[in-house]
Amino acid sequence: MALLTYSSTIPFSSSSSPSSLSSRRFPATPFRTHVSGPLNPWRFRSRLPRPHAPTRAKATLTVDSPATGDASSRNGPPRVLLEVKDLKAVIKESGQEILRGVNLTIHGGEVHAIMGKNGSGKSTFSKVLVGHQDYDVTGGSVLFKDQNLLEMEPEERSHVGLFMSFQTPVEIPGVSNFDFLLMAFNARRKNHGLPPVEPLEFYSLVTPKVASLNMNPKFLDRNVNEGFSGGEKKRNEILQLAVLEADLAILDEIDSGLDVDALQDVAKAVNGLLTPNNSVLIITHYQRLLECIKPSYVHIMEDGMIVRTGDVSLAEQLEREGYRGISMS
Ligand SMILES: Nc1ncnc2c1ncn2[C@@H]1O[C@H](COP(=O)(O)OP(=O)(O)OP(=O)(O)O)[C@@H](O)[C@H]1O
Ligand SMILES: [Mg+2]
Repeated sequence: MALLTYSSTIPFSSSSSPSSLSSRRFPATPFRTHVSGPLNPWRFRSRLPRPHAPTRAKATLTVDSPATGDASSRNGPPRVLLEVKDLKAVIKESGQEILRGVNLTIHGGEVHAIMGKNGSGKSTFSKVLVGHQDYDVTGGSVLFKDQNLLEMEPEERSHVGLFMSFQTPVEIPGVSNFDFLLMAFNARRKNHGLPPVEPLEFYSLVTPKVASLNMNPKFLDRNVNEGFSGGEKKRNEILQLAVLEADLAILDEIDSGLDVDALQDVAKAVNGLLTPNNSVLIITHYQRLLECIKPSYVHIMEDGMIVRTGDVSLAEQLEREGYRGISMS
């Protein structure tokens, strides 16, 4: 992974001179004292960096999103990242079936979009993929990079390269954004047998990413998502993705609540993270996001199944005609 490789050698930039940093940003202890118990990021959300991908260390971070599954531009067959077959899942508490047989295959370099009416199961699908505790899988299979995802704990899923931005990002009182990112970053390094990076070094790594998202650096000092506006939370999700990276990033309604400029910033950041080896699964209701992050495939989910797959023209038709105008088979 890029960050794992270059972080230990990244030079100190002038913008991150120690004198400009508040002591709050670099507390003597990693977390504020009113956080009880050992702070485990997995208590808050299912995402930590994936283990290894040294080949991405020099990845160009300025590519445009692929317009169509750009297998033709690669040498050799595209790598299958995710293979979902006939996935069924119920709500644990009630036993109600929500996913009724989802099939989806994602290759490296592809951008997939899932659209669908409210309540059709899009968020449930993404949460089941990351191992959310509210759901039980009752059938089907999910392979992620040839490994059985369904047998993994949520944190393991992240360790192997899955990232999810939740539709409603969680707040973490008492933990600053900076501390959270550093903790997650170092947890990944530990998982790879690497020593932790020091806060100052990490600061020099994270600040350019904050700048590229046009975020105020003060957001690093604020508690994770606490008091953030809807749009600020969404930007913050992408900051986490930019720092932690992933082979497959699932972005659930990352565009909701974003103003026009924020949408551009977020799309630019996501496009900048795309390489021929990784992939993004976007859940959205609006074609405007797909104009910025061009999908290889557009899927429509209905009643817990993917019932239509097409290209970007499907999203355009949806924009014009609504679901009433679209044949679901
Ligand atoms: N934990 C839960 N408890 C109760 N009902 C749930 C739970 N999770 C999902 N559901 C129900 O499952 C259905 C699918 O929900 P889901 O959030 O997946 O829809 P969605 O397609 O993401 O919708 P939207 O476009 O509005 O975000 C809904 O009827 C929802 O109320
Ligand atoms: Mg949803």
